[in-house]
Amino acid sequence: MMRVSAPGKLMLFGEHAAVYGKPCIVTAIDARLFVHEGDPTGDTRFLDAAVAAWGTAGTRLAAESAFSGAYGFGSSSAVTVAALKYLRPKAGKRELFDEAKRIVLAVQGKGSGFDVAAAAYGGTLYFDGGGTTIEPIDTPPLPLIVGYTGSKADTVALISDVEKKRAAQPERVGRIFDAIEKITDEAREALAGGDWQRVGTLMNFNQEYLRNLGVSSDMLERLIHAVLEAGAFGAKLSGAGGGDCMVALADKEHRTVVEDAIASAGGQVIHIIAGAPGVRVES
Ligand code: MEV
Repeated sequence: MMRVSAPGKLMLFGEHAAVYGKPCIVTAIDARLFVHEGDPTGDTRFLDAAVAAWGTAGTRLAAESAFSGAYGFGSSSAVTVAALKYLRPKAGKRELFDEAKRIVLAVQGKGSGFDVAAAAYGGTLYFDGGGTTIEPIDTPPLPLIVGYTGSKADTVALISDVEKKRAAQPERVGRIFDAIEKITDEAREALAGGDWQRVGTLMNFNQEYLRNLGVSSDMLERLIHAVLEAGAFGAKLSGAGGGDCMVALADKEHRTVVEDAIASAGGQVIHIIAGAPGVRVES
């Protein structure tokens, strides 16, 4: 039986600004989602839309995920990309990205498509202009540590909150997005050079702007504070904010103490490897 898998993702820089065409950096992670023939269960909206687009009458696809939908790892985009690849195994990354982005936006309503790019391309990506530019960043293995807050974020509601803020205070929010863009561009260089100290500092700057935008939460702040105290190079929320996960960067010597700090602060450490391969036919 054929199976297709696609990776989950973590946003490293540029969330929210990416919705307005600014650049962001995303990494695909080794937690994967699998699509195969079978009876669909649960939320089938993305599978149904993929079958409607590229399937034939009677195609039945089911999905299984190695990660919880609560983490914010991008299960909707992973399932859409994996289903499209199942239906057209020869489809290239750009074709998969374009069609999956169209589907995810039609079902979900809002978003930049960066998560779809991570599922289709894999690796660590510089994503700009809603996907007009999708370029791999060749980084050494990323010493990333992930802490789950215990609560799921409502991405669409958070995007709408920021939209309202931007309408009410266009100059203030525009300046925040411009600053996030600069940080993201600098982070691209620092990541490529494996300059973790600098990447960490840039994560902290990015987090200040996200806090300012009002998308952080008490639990995210608690975990971020704890890992910085424990010696991480830097930390920030990852994704829409409000809950989901935070990411930290720390050297080998600090990994255990940083992970312990997450647990002591009430978070859950999630072990992942960054820079995982994109969608692929497994068998
Ligand atoms: C959500 O994971 C990240 C946002 O920037 C939305 C998006 O880019 O699709 C808030």
